[in-house]
Amino acid sequence: MHGLHARLPRNFVLEERLERYADAIELEPARLAGRWADACTPIGSKPFREVRLDVGCGKGAFLTASAAAEPDVLFIGLDGEPVCIVYSAQHIIEGNLGNALVIPGLGDDLVRFFAPGELAGITINFPTPYPRKKEASKRLVALERLLEYRSLLADGAQITFKTDHEPLFAFALTQFELAGYVPDYVGDDYRADFPDTPKSEYEERLVAQGAQVHALIAHAGPLEGTPVQTASLSLVDYLPDDLHGLSYVPHGMQGTVVNLRNRRDHEAMRLS
Ligand SMILES: C[S@@+](CC[C@H](N)C(=O)[O-])C[C@H]1O[C@@H](n2cnc3c(N)ncnc32)[C@H](O)[C@@H]1O
Repeated sequence: MHGLHARLPRNFVLEERLERYADAIELEPARLAGRWADACTPIGSKPFREVRLDVGCGKGAFLTASAAAEPDVLFIGLDGEPVCIVYSAQHIIEGNLGNALVIPGLGDDLVRFFAPGELAGITINFPTPYPRKKEASKRLVALERLLEYRSLLADGAQITFKTDHEPLFAFALTQFELAGYVPDYVGDDYRADFPDTPKSEYEERLVAQGAQVHALIAHAGPLEGTPVQTASLSLVDYLPDDLHGLSYVPHGMQGTVVNLRNRRDHEAMRLS
């Protein structure tokens, strides 16, 4: 995950850690589709009240804090990066959390891992923006993904999306609308509005660097037919006109913003 390997401890051996924290890692998630809550309930305990999913869970700070706060809910984290899976599993085991586990996998695998209506909530915290047009389908908030999440959410269940990335947020709003979601909350200062919900690693880190938390909470509304993509897919198209007024440039867009500023400045000088 974007330079994460560079920060690994010297004695980090992935395979050894996967084995050590295996109790918190589900390697065959498809076999549990439709029965996660029952299958994961510890023997002698009441079945979990509901199942919630954290897509792109990273190193699991949000997942484990959520699990600690609500022991009667099963929290599942999914991430495509094995190192993140290992760190999340370590935090689950060390936190003695019997109501959390992680799945190695990608966002487009979810329809194989869960049954229709099985999820009582989905969280997408600070997903990788993939700013280029050709990578747009990898975004966890792309139309195709949002349509798949719809099918997995229970009636009225909410999806919560947070990001520091204004262009990604603007793009995501178009995608949620196309996918027929009804917003319950849209805001540019989620932390002021929800001060007590758990924070993810990226939220902690990026807010310390001056980021605002943009967030959308929505549930699936009516949808007729299959929506067609009409939004622009390059995140450059969602940057504001006044690039000098940008006080915070999200990660991955610094180079693009500098180049665009220079290009626009040269253009303005040429015309003056
Ligand atoms: C910027 S990090 C954010 C991690 C965490 N949610 C947080 O807020 O601290 C994005 C995470 O999403 C994962 N990711 C990106 N695309 C993914 C995909 N298509 N499927 C699963 N995980 C993905 C990355 O491996 C990474 O761990």
